[in-house]
Amino acid sequence: MLKAKMCGIIGYVGEKEANDILIAGLERLEYRGYDSAGIAVTHNNTISINKSEGRVHNLKKEKLDGTIGIGHTRWATHGPPSNKNAHPFTCNEKKFVVVHNGIIENYLELKSGLHRSGISCTSDTDSEVIVHLIAQAYGGNLKEAVCKVIKHLQGSYALCVMHKDTHELVGARNGSPLLIGIGKGENFFASDASAIIDYTKDVIYMNDFQIAEIGKNLVTVFDFDGVEQSHEIKKIDWNLEQAQKSGYKHFMLKEIFEQPSVAQESLKVTFAIRKDFSRIIFVACGTASYAGLVGKYIIEKIAKIPVVNEIASEFRYKECLISEKDLVIAISQSGETADTLAAVRLARQKGARTLGLINVVDSTIAREVDSVVYTRAGPEIGVASTKAFISQLVMLYKFAFHLTENGMSNDIVDKIKETLKLSESIRKLAEQYYTCQNFLYIGRNIHFPLALEGALKLKEISYIHAEAYPAGELKHGPIALVCTEMPTIAICPQDSVYEKTYSNIEEIKARNGKVITIATEGDERIRNVSNDIIYVPKVDDIFYPFVIAVVLQLFAYHIADLRDCDVDKPRNLAKSVTVE
Ligand code: M6R
Repeated sequence: MLKAKMCGIIGYVGEKEANDILIAGLERLEYRGYDSAGIAVTHNNTISINKSEGRVHNLKKEKLDGTIGIGHTRWATHGPPSNKNAHPFTCNEKKFVVVHNGIIENYLELKSGLHRSGISCTSDTDSEVIVHLIAQAYGGNLKEAVCKVIKHLQGSYALCVMHKDTHELVGARNGSPLLIGIGKGENFFASDASAIIDYTKDVIYMNDFQIAEIGKNLVTVFDFDGVEQSHEIKKIDWNLEQAQKSGYKHFMLKEIFEQPSVAQESLKVTFAIRKDFSRIIFVACGTASYAGLVGKYIIEKIAKIPVVNEIASEFRYKECLISEKDLVIAISQSGETADTLAAVRLARQKGARTLGLINVVDSTIAREVDSVVYTRAGPEIGVASTKAFISQLVMLYKFAFHLTENGMSNDIVDKIKETLKLSESIRKLAEQYYTCQNFLYIGRNIHFPLALEGALKLKEISYIHAEAYPAGELKHGPIALVCTEMPTIAICPQDSVYEKTYSNIEEIKARNGKVITIATEGDERIRNVSNDIIYVPKVDDIFYPFVIAVVLQLFAYHIADLRDCDVDKPRNLAKSVTVE
């Protein structure tokens, strides 16, 4: 079973000083992990290494000379975040350096073998063995040494390797993303294009079981036996501006405010999929899975087709009762989530058709599904998913309408814009509540997944405990939690379940609970049961998730900002979850 960990890697070879290019690239890759960072550069046949626990900016205290180098930003799995566990790793004679993203599952066995040959590792990581093995295997050609060593590695990896004397870097991929950036008189390796987009938009997405050699005027791709392979150069279709904060305090806020244009863009997508399936199964994780749950309600309501919404990490290990009559839809922003990828592979093995609703173009899942529809949210940098969620909702609604051969109106774009105007008033509300330790989120029907998403946003960026329940479930247990210290966010717009949710709010009020209600503008009656109200624009019943999502994102954002949290890079998290 392949497992992979997050981490970002980069390699540069050219005529410019590598130091700044590597550090700037790693800063862009920090969304993949930020427990430690490091770079290695070779100059005058000597390798220098600068690495440190913590963020990439710690590397700026020192500057390494040289025009060829590799770098790494780490999300810790084997061994705690520390200087000694930071990449790059070197061998005893400091002739080679390696950065690694992935997990070497047989590292203990490899470590023992090295130990028997008198070589000791200095770190607790699974990665360090690779550099010692390469040093042992080297007979004058780096690519050949890497080819030999990877035959002994079990697990997953994207690797970048450098020798102190050579002018080429070698990269290899098996299960973790790696691309080659093609410049003029310079070339790059990177975990993703954001790291190198300042320098080139031409990339080769490496496939699993490929190894590549790059020099300043050289790019060659091989299979694991060293046989040269053809490759396709693709153009990145987004720009740096889209990956910058553009005056916003945080990427998350910028991305929340981009949602009208994202929705507009996603609305342009059309589906051309055969409708000969009897059931739809969504596989996804986190926010993408909550989008899937909204999709379930909507498709069942509009298209009357049964939908199962599966959390990918559960789906892959339970009895898999799917067949060629099923359509399995993977939803993923990054297109790299390990559990979602494994679920897709399993579905394909079982003969089901697979469709991907994916944001990152040419990502691994996008390339493995039978057909892919891109959600067009643009680069999402904040670890908390916002605009990707809205784009996933648009896709799912469009898909539901496609199944009934109806079109979808584009009014939601203006309604999202209107909702964004609430940001200041939501901040004032957040000022009243940001010291609370616990929140309850409730909603019925299509608003239950929104309650889940609202609670997730709050938890992940503000570290406040939040629980979401279907409003009707409260009296089956969670109502025992209700007290003055645990406010409830109640999602209660004027739709078909309004009266039912209203009654649930009354039950909370009767027990001295504080309630912040998200209600439809003009609903005066809701004041009777609310301590505070956030009024959203009136929309057709099924479209409320679009405006309510924005309110929930803004509420979580302002609370986290008031608590001085690192909104874009919350503790313990990484944007791309390539670990199972
Ligand atoms: O890249 P993906 O959409 O596959 O990621 C899935 C989840 O890891 C992601 O949505 C995560 O839950 C976010 N941090 C939520 O804001």
